Amino acid sequence: MNKKIKKIGVLTSGGDAPGMNAAIRSIVRMACYKKIEVIGIVRGYQGLITNDFIHMNHRSVSNIIGLGGTILKTSRCPEFIKLSGQKKAVDNIKQYDIDAIIGIGGDGTYRGLLALENKWHIPCIGVPGTIDNDLNGTETTIGADTAVNTALDAIDKVRDTATSLERIFVVEVMGREFGYIAQQAALAGGAEQLLLPKEKINIKKISSEIIAGHKKGKNSWIIIVAEGAGQGHKIGKLITQNTGLDTRVTVLGHIQRGGVPSAKDRVVATRLGAYAVELLIKSVSGKAVGINKDELTVVDLKYACSPKKLKSKEYLSLIKILT
Ligand code: ADP
Ligand code: F6P
Repeated sequence: MNKKIKKIGVLTSGGDAPGMNAAIRSIVRMACYKKIEVIGIVRGYQGLITNDFIHMNHRSVSNIIGLGGTILKTSRCPEFIKLSGQKKAVDNIKQYDIDAIIGIGGDGTYRGLLALENKWHIPCIGVPGTIDNDLNGTETTIGADTAVNTALDAIDKVRDTATSLERIFVVEVMGREFGYIAQQAALAGGAEQLLLPKEKINIKKISSEIIAGHKKGKNSWIIIVAEGAGQGHKIGKLITQNTGLDTRVTVLGHIQRGGVPSAKDRVVATRLGAYAVELLIKSVSGKAVGINKDELTVVDLKYACSPKKLKSKEYLSLIKILT
């Protein structure tokens, strides 16, 4: 990419994440500082197809740094996966003289950017925005820290009532493919069990441990289950059947996607958003930005959205030992 960047489009796509607004603010203000025009694309790839564009300036992002959600809105857009949908989007990009796109989102959003970059030669940069923290090339994604703290807050509250009534609780947290939220919140919340996607789960063994603990006077348990590991309600039912003990289930669901972004998520979003603009000015594209050991880094978009493996051994072992 050698063309001088004069106008960039910014979109948020897929699942929203606290801190996306802080990233939008940083992108818009860095671009203004560098005398680059910014077009906000509403509802992600859907807005690219339907031409839902807004001109943005320094003031359009006033007072959004602490807001959850995304002022640009987001969507899942199956039409964009097809070449016909992409063609409509690219026609609009060209018609508006947009030179490059910054997409804030998760692995699906990155696959959309890859299509724009590789099939249609539109320069793109990905900014990691997902509560799941499941992208390669960055130690953290925008929203993950807030989501872990939201889950932890709920787990702490569940523990109060679990202790008072001497009950077993299954708490289901988000994470369809990747158990980051479950892993972090379980360790921080002192949970007795952690069930992760792609790990072997033995409900009979867990039930026996609960019965053994119960005989020794341990009367309340918190079991954290990532949604990709199994349904909380099914697991709770099996545990009641196996142990004969009072079990309750709490599914945290979409509250984990909302709320005021933590300081960490705002800082990460602000640094990554500004960096994305700087890279485009330097003619870098087809990359995803990240933060590793507190340094700004880039990797290929393709690598960034390839499946990530959660390092869980230490966490599972610690939880076992400390319970
Ligand atoms: P996330 O970005 O949070 O992972 P999704 O997986 O829903 O969320 O992806 C967001 C959007 O990215 C999809 O709705 C679709 O429009 C686009 N997308 C996903 N995969 C592809 C693909 N292979 N090619 C083009 N666009 C894609
Ligand atoms: O944002 C990521 C995520 O929260 C996953 O953990 C979850 O499986 C998924 O989104 C659910 O999103 P939706 O209800 O929007 O399909």
